[in-house]
Amino acid sequence: MKTRTAYKWMGGALIVLTLGFLACNKKPAGSEEILIGEYGAMTGSTATFGQSTHKGITMAIEELNATGGVLGKQIKILSEDDQGKPEEAQTVVTKLINKDRVSAILGEVASSNSLAAAPLCQQSRIPMVTPASTNPKVTQVGDYIFRICFIDPFQGKVMAKFAGNSLKVKKVAILRDIKSDYSMGLANFFKESFVANGGEIVADESYSAGDKDFNAQLTSIKSKNPEAVFVPGYYTEVGLIARQARKLGITGPLMGGDGWDSEKLWEIGGDALNGCFFSNHYSVDDPSPAIQNFVASFKKKYNGESPDAMSALGYDVAKVLVDAMRRANSDNPDSVRLALSKTSGYAGVTGAITLNESRDAVKPAVVLEVKDGKFAFKETVAP
Ligand code: PHE
Repeated sequence: MKTRTAYKWMGGALIVLTLGFLACNKKPAGSEEILIGEYGAMTGSTATFGQSTHKGITMAIEELNATGGVLGKQIKILSEDDQGKPEEAQTVVTKLINKDRVSAILGEVASSNSLAAAPLCQQSRIPMVTPASTNPKVTQVGDYIFRICFIDPFQGKVMAKFAGNSLKVKKVAILRDIKSDYSMGLANFFKESFVANGGEIVADESYSAGDKDFNAQLTSIKSKNPEAVFVPGYYTEVGLIARQARKLGITGPLMGGDGWDSEKLWEIGGDALNGCFFSNHYSVDDPSPAIQNFVASFKKKYNGESPDAMSALGYDVAKVLVDAMRRANSDNPDSVRLALSKTSGYAGVTGAITLNESRDAVKPAVVLEVKDGKFAFKETVAP
């Protein structure tokens, strides 16, 4: 008797729960706002990636809303923290798709996190646009996945050429993050180009994101006498690697890619990084009016903070997506996907954005030199 009442009660509760779930799972007809999802690392060892991107996206959306939004509606960004972890990226993207019913999703920065969540967007037919993931595999997930930045075969070539032609080094060692699709890919692309140009890779060592002690790998690298070391990792590990390398007496320049770009890099590595070089998506020093206007408005909004590449890419990615909605005259995900695929010559802060048949942008890269906490412009390399 008692059990039966309990079952009845549970059944009733289940119905109420199900109805409640269905109700909040449905996008209200004629919804007042355009909903866009964003996921990124707001915490964890790549936290500046998500935080910087979010600042750029927020600034772009505020500008758009101030001039009437899009399709006669205001735009709302629903932002989720994935702590820089692939599993968390899947959890929060599932929520954005199934619960929030967003029209499109912006993110991630780190390629491994984009690779984890992209299949969910593809299966649900929700367009995903990554501002900064450079590994080629990301957009290969399917036709709903786009990026507004260059890819690593190009970035690897840029640094290989810089090493050979500008630094004039012939013997280089590599220290790569085995847990990161970005690092593994970029290391391979660099190696390919550097060897093709007549250079030699004298050591190829690895670590795992989260490691703190790199002495074993650096000792082995030092014994091979490289003239420079290519470290295509993220800023937290790169900062530690720089310090430990100098302590062991490795004196040649360290080189890396866009994953170095963070104000935290200098905080962690300090002057061990002076005279080191990395490739990036843009330079704050670029005198072009588009960049200087953006830098000035960003500084005004964020207490004098200067925008790193992810802030610039975040700003561009939000505007490119909304531009596609405007051209599609709809926020229906399929229509937005089609319009995105036709993005051509969009004048972004990070350069003109045209998406090719692989849904990637083809853009120049810059090489920057670390100088007393600043990233000084060295050269621009066109594709
Ligand atoms: N390109 C890096 C990746 O694919 C992410 C990144 C972009 C980091 C820009 C810093 C700046 O993982």
